[in-house]
Amino acid sequence: MTREEALDSVKANVENPNLVKHMLATEAIMRALARRFGEDEEEWGLTGLLHDIDMELTEGDMKTHSKLGADLARELGVSEAMAHAILCHNAAHGIPPVTKLDKALFCTDPLTGLITAAALVRPDKKLAGLEAKSVLKRFKEKSFAAGASREQISRCSEIGLELNEFVQLGLEAMQGIADDLGL
Ligand SMILES: [Fe+2]
Repeated sequence: MTREEALDSVKANVENPNLVKHMLATEAIMRALARRFGEDEEEWGLTGLLHDIDMELTEGDMKTHSKLGADLARELGVSEAMAHAILCHNAAHGIPPVTKLDKALFCTDPLTGLITAAALVRPDKKLAGLEAKSVLKRFKEKSFAAGASREQISRCSEIGLELNEFVQLGLEAMQGIADDLGL
C-alpha cells in the first residue's frame, strides 16, 4: 500500500475535514517519531494516517471503533503490527499497547488535539509562532482541550521520551505540514 492509496481510503471513508486533518497530524508526528527512533517511517506514518479511518463508519461508538479500523487497514494490506497498533489505540477495548509502534500511536493521538487547540487560541490561529513552552503550559491547564487526555499523552515516557521532548517533536512535525492542516 502506498501513502497515496492510504490517503485515498481515508478520504473515501471520512467526510469531516477536521478528522482527516487529525489523521494527517498523527501521521506527521508518527513519521517524526520513527525518524527519531530509527524505525520504519512508512510503517509508522501510515499507521498514524489510517488509525481513525472507521470513526464515521462506527459513528464514534467506542465499542466498535478501531476494531473495524484494524480490519479495514488489514484489507488495505497493512502488516499485523500496524493493525494491532490501530486496534489498541482505543483504550475502550482494554487491549494494552505492547510494541513501540502501539505505544507511539497511543500517546500521539491526543497530542495532536492539544497542539491544534493551542494554535487556535492564538490571535493568528497559526502553528508557526507557537512554542513548545506554550503547549506545555496548556498541558497543565486541565480544562483546556480537556478531551486531549493528559494521562495518555504522558505515556510518551513508555517510548523513552520526556514530555517536553515529545511536545517539541510533535509541534515541529505539525508545523512542517501546517498548510495541509490549515493552521
Ligand atoms: Fe485519533
